[in-house]
This record gives sequence, structure tokens and C-alpha cells, in this order.
Amino acid sequence: MTTEERTYSPGLAGVLAGETALSLVDGANGRLLYRGYPIGELVREGSFAQVAHLLWADEWLQEAHLPCAPLADPILAALRDLPEGAHPMDALRTAFSVWGATNRTVWPPTVEQAREITAVAPSALAAFGRLRGGLEPVDPDPSLDTTAGFLYQLNGVVPDEASARALDAYFIVGADHGFNASTFAARVITATRSDIASAVAGATGALKGPLHGGAPSEVVSQLNEIGTPEAAEQWINDALDRKERLMGFGHRVYRAYDPRAAALREVAMHMSSIADWLELAVAVEDVALRVLEERHPERPLKTNVEYYTAAVLQGVGLPPDLFPATFAMARTAGWTAHSIEQAGVDKLIRPDVIYTGPEERHLPTS
Ligand code: ACO
Repeated sequence: MTTEERTYSPGLAGVLAGETALSLVDGANGRLLYRGYPIGELVREGSFAQVAHLLWADEWLQEAHLPCAPLADPILAALRDLPEGAHPMDALRTAFSVWGATNRTVWPPTVEQAREITAVAPSALAAFGRLRGGLEPVDPDPSLDTTAGFLYQLNGVVPDEASARALDAYFIVGADHGFNASTFAARVITATRSDIASAVAGATGALKGPLHGGAPSEVVSQLNEIGTPEAAEQWINDALDRKERLMGFGHRVYRAYDPRAAALREVAMHMSSIADWLELAVAVEDVALRVLEERHPERPLKTNVEYYTAAVLQGVGLPPDLFPATFAMARTAGWTAHSIEQAGVDKLIRPDVIYTGPEERHLPTS
């Protein structure tokens, strides 16, 4: 078949580009399953360590532990050498690269490699977070799991259980989401038989883009601008009249309420540190959903994961510029699981393209 006879879908929208047994994103019904288990159940009853192991090895361990890994000297040296003001996503991507160079990981990816690189990420981001503030990195505490360990290394104090649990819930909902752009990037890289560190570094680059990594910090600014529940209706109508988008609403796949938002909303409700802010968020959400529905009943726009991500990450005290890299740390579990799955397929991903350049021609004679 010639390229003209085939259908071209910009952005590969609607194209079936592979198979996965890892997560089911059911946009019409607002369902997200990891290996068959509903996301709400995993958040209520599981831990990030259990969920990561489930994704990597298709096994539910009653006791799973994933402590943060100590940083090898070359990683620390690279983080120390970064310029002041480096983007946290660049710092994390650099750490992944140096980890790969130091460990010389080779294809095919393994569960052990997946565990190691996932456990290095929080230590690297926490070290970067401290170094840029003129503080020395803190060694990981092997008794703490990933998210408590990350907060400990970032702040130098063991977090309270509620904060660690809330961040763990966020890591669970962020761990995997079908063939999103960064996961697809990881699979393309693995499909060339390149190593897991290259796949994760490439995926981090894809997630850094504002169309993917998202900006839950914009939800924070939006709510700050609205200020009070009474001001919400006017503010929202004015914004929509100006053709602006409400941050934290709408999704390419979900037409129903994003199940990740529902799970995080539940978690946020138990965080006393953000009680006032959350009251405003819930009131504004109610108004926003009503106004969006009244204006366009034919086009469902519901709350997405970013809305309550903002609440949870604020509640655990993370600075907004660390939000995208925090997402990347959680998604490392999914990227590495997809890398392992892709290696099992062992098929180069190499689509065709429509050539739009000139017909064959020849250089001018001098
Ligand atoms: N507020 C107001 N209007 C919206 C919103 C919104 N949040 N989202 C979509 N629309 C409107 C668009 O303006 C468009 O209207 P038009 O047809 O009159 O031009 C229509 O709905 C369809 O929009 P699309 O761009 O086709 O929707 P798409 O599915 O491509 O976009 C997206 C999804 C990017 C998430 C969009 O809903 C959006 O920009 N939301 C706000 C930003 C946000 O919350 N991003 C986080 C998403 S979750 C995540 O990425 C992890």
C-alpha cells in the first residue's frame, strides 16, 4: 500500500500503537485499573512500593518495601555541578543519565534495574532540592519507604504519617497511565534494545513539556486569584468568556470524572494543613462543574487529576516548581514497567511518514 492509501492521524490520535497489560484507561466510564485493580482500591489499601512491584512483576506482595537508594558519587558530583536555577526536571534527567553511565545497564531491562532507578530518583531530587538552597544532601534512611524517604531527604526531618501517606497516594495515582507521551517515548527507546536508563531519561524529557507534565501549580494560582467561593461564579464566567481554560478540568481521554482526582480528593480531605484552601477548592469545583455543564451540556468537561494534585502536593509542603519532577518520580515505576513489557515484545517501533518535500531534483551546475 502506498502512503496515500493509508490514513494519517496527526498526533497518532486514535491509532492503536501497541498492547499493554499494565493499565486500563477507560475514559468513558472514568475507570483506571492497574493490572485489573481499580485505582481507588489501590490508593485506599496499597502502598507505592506494592503498586510498583505489581506493575513490574504482576504480583501483589502483602509486605513490599522500596527505600530510597544512596546516591553514587558521580550522581552527587553532577548535581553539585548544575548551574544555579537549573530546572528540577533537568536535574532529575541528569541523575538518571549518570546512574545509567555508572551502572552500565544493558538491555533487556530487569525488575532489579527498575527498582534501583526508581529508588534513586527521590534521593536525587531531594539532594538537588537541598543543594540549590545551599544545604548539604541527607543520606537516605533505609527504614523509610520511597515517599517518606523522599520527604525526609528533602527536609531533613521524618515526615508525619499523614503527609507521607498523602504523597504515597499521589505516587500511586501517578505511577502509570496507558500509552501517554513519555511512556511511549520510553517504549520507543527500549524497542531499539537500548538500556533502561536511556528509556527513563528520554521519558523524563518528554514529561518535561508543558503539554504533558502539566502544571498543577496553575491550579494554585487560579484559586488564589478567585479568592473566595462567592467570587467563583463571576470569575469562571469571565474567564470562559475570554476563551480561557479552567485549570484542572478537561482531559483528552476521560469524559467522566477522572478517577485519580476522586482518589486524591479523598486523601486531601484528611489533610488538616490545607483545610481552608481545600474548602475553597471544593466550593470552586462545584461551581466550575455546574458552569461548564450549563455552557456546553454536549461536551463533558470534568475535574482532572491536576486539580487535587495541587492540593496534596501543597499539603505535604512541596514547592510548586518541584511538582513536575515529583510526577516524574512516580511515573518512573510505570516507565520502567513498560520498558520491561516492551523488551518482551522485542520489536523495533518504526512507523512510516508522509514525505512532503520536493520531488527528486539536482544540484545546480557551477
Ligand atoms: N476549560 C475551558 N474549556 C475547555 C477546557 C477547560 N479546562 N478544556 C477544554 N476546553 C474546551 C476547549 O477550549 C475546546 O473548545 P472549542 O472546541 O470551543 O475550541 C474544547 O473544550 C475541546 O478542547 P480540546 O483542546 O479539544 O480538548 P483536549 O482533549 O485536546 O484537551 C486538555 C485536553 C489539554 C487537558 C484540556 O482540557 C485543557 O487544556 N485543560 C486545562 C489544563 C489542565 O487541566 N491540564 C491537565 C490535564 S490532566 C493531565 O495532563 C495529567
